[in-house]
Parts: sequence; C-alpha cells; structure tokens
Amino acid sequence: MKTKPALICPACETALDWNEKECRCARGHSFDQAKEGYLNLLLSHQRKSNHPGDDANMIQARRRFFDSGALDLVTEQIKKSAIGNHQSAILDCGCGEGHFLGALSEAHDGQFFGVDVSKEAVRCAAKRYKKANWIVANAMRKLPFADHSLDVILSVLAPRNPEEFARILKPDGALILGVPGPNHLIELRSRLAANAGDFEEKADEAAAKCAPHFSETHRELLCYEQTLNAAQIADLIQMTPIFWCSSPEAKAGVQQLAELKVTVSFVLLTLQHA
Ligand SMILES: C[S@@+](CC[C@H](N)C(=O)[O-])C[C@H]1O[C@@H](n2cnc3c(N)ncnc32)[C@H](O)[C@@H]1O
Ligand SMILES: [Zn+2]
Repeated sequence: MKTKPALICPACETALDWNEKECRCARGHSFDQAKEGYLNLLLSHQRKSNHPGDDANMIQARRRFFDSGALDLVTEQIKKSAIGNHQSAILDCGCGEGHFLGALSEAHDGQFFGVDVSKEAVRCAAKRYKKANWIVANAMRKLPFADHSLDVILSVLAPRNPEEFARILKPDGALILGVPGPNHLIELRSRLAANAGDFEEKADEAAAKCAPHFSETHRELLCYEQTLNAAQIADLIQMTPIFWCSSPEAKAGVQQLAELKVTVSFVLLTLQHA
C-alpha cells in the first residue's frame, strides 16, 4: 500500500491530507486525483504556458530510449546511490516519465515521490509505476513538501532549486545530482553542433550552484561505450531539446546512420547540508 507524503498546500502552505479520491488542506483548498492516480498541485499562476515542461513526443521518445536498455548501467548506479535505509522518503524532482524513481520504487521499500511540471510526463509515470506518488508541480517555485520531510532528493538532468531542496531535505538527508559527464554523447553531439562542449565542467558547475546550501560529499563517474541503433538515435534527438537547433543537413546525416557508437558519461554527485 502506498504511503502518502507530508505534502503542503500550494495555495496556503498548510498540511495537505491526501486520501483515496482527493487532496484537501484544513483551509478548504482541494485538489483532485487524476484517474491515473497522480495529483496536480500546479496552480495556474505557477506555469508559464498551458503545457509547461517536456511535451508528449519528448516523453514517449524518452520512455522508448530507457526501455531500449541504453542507460541501464546509469539506472543501476542511481539505484545504488539513492537508497539509504528502508524507510527512506525519496523525491525525484524533474522526474520526467518516471524511469529512475520507478526503478527505485520497484526494487525497494520506502516512500517515493516524483514531481514534474509536465502533466504528460507525470501521467505517463503514474500509468506505469504504481508504487510511487506522482505530482505535477513547478520545481522552480515552492515545492509542495513540508520542511525537512525527505531523506533523499534525486535530480537527474533536471532544473534544480537548491534553496527549496535545502528546506525540504532532512538535516542528515542526501541530495543526489545526475549530470552529464565528460564527453557524454560527444560522437553524436559533434555531428549535430559545430561547438559541442566537452562537458568537463558540468559537475563542478552543478556543485557550485548548490554551494551556499550544500557541500559535496561524494562523486561517482560512470563512463561506457554504447552502440545505438537507428531507432535509439532518433529517440535521443527527439528527447533532447539542444539537438533541435542543429542544421537540417546535420540532423538528416545522423538520421541516416544505421548505428553509432557513443560515449555515455554520467556524474552522480552526492551533497549534504552545508
Ligand atoms: C531532461 S528531462 C529529465 C527527466 C528525468 N529526470 C530523466 O532523467 O529521465 C527534464 C525534465 O524536467 C522537467 N522540468 C522542466 N522544468 C521544470 C520545472 N520548473 N519543474 C519541474 N520539472 C521541470 C521537464 O518536464 C522534464 O521532464
Ligand atoms: Zn490550502
């Protein structure tokens, strides 16, 4: 049975009671649970467009890419880093279609919460992964969790809000950031953009951005070669917005490849309250 999280109302910040059908605070603000089981806590003034975040095409491409197994080693490493004890309350902030949190929730006991600003992403996550709680919310605003209520916050390739992470993470909790490592997908990126960066600085930049609130306690680099087939290449281009601005010729060239060997490089940073 799912355990409900220590949520706070996005309108008035008092505690939210989330029962089987709806979610309501003591002041009477109520939020419906969608038929897929997720909760929409995104207030209309907290979004810049009617469909913020990744769209349905990107989400489906991301799901197919994960399902193809190309990032299974990354998933295993995240599972190892994110699980502390059996009672852990874990938030995946910017969870997308739910792959990483879904894998964690299926392998371990605990309380699992996934937040994304994209309703399509959260719906997709909620349809597949039933052991986690899925919430639509804007991570750049106040996150709908009580102060110091989470053991682990996971943020993989997603926007980060260090101030809010510091507020909602327990004093001995861990913030785990997944960022692209040196030369991540360089073989693909250099074909699509003339000035593809080497990504050497990404992990340091991520740690520095969190520095006022967090200090780094551990760093893990995972790097391997992966041969992608044509379908995987197409999905990777579809799910990665930086590839969209590459020239039509460069994109057509890449899309004609039957396969391409790429470097997969990920850095997992563990940080704790400073
Ligand atoms: C590159 S995807 C990564 C998704 C997931 N962490 C993964 O690794 O598969 C970035 C995600 O951040 C979400 N996102 C963008 N802005 C956001 C915001 N302000 N609040 C919450 N999520 C946001 C997008 O909708 C998208 O699902
Ligand atoms: Zn309220």
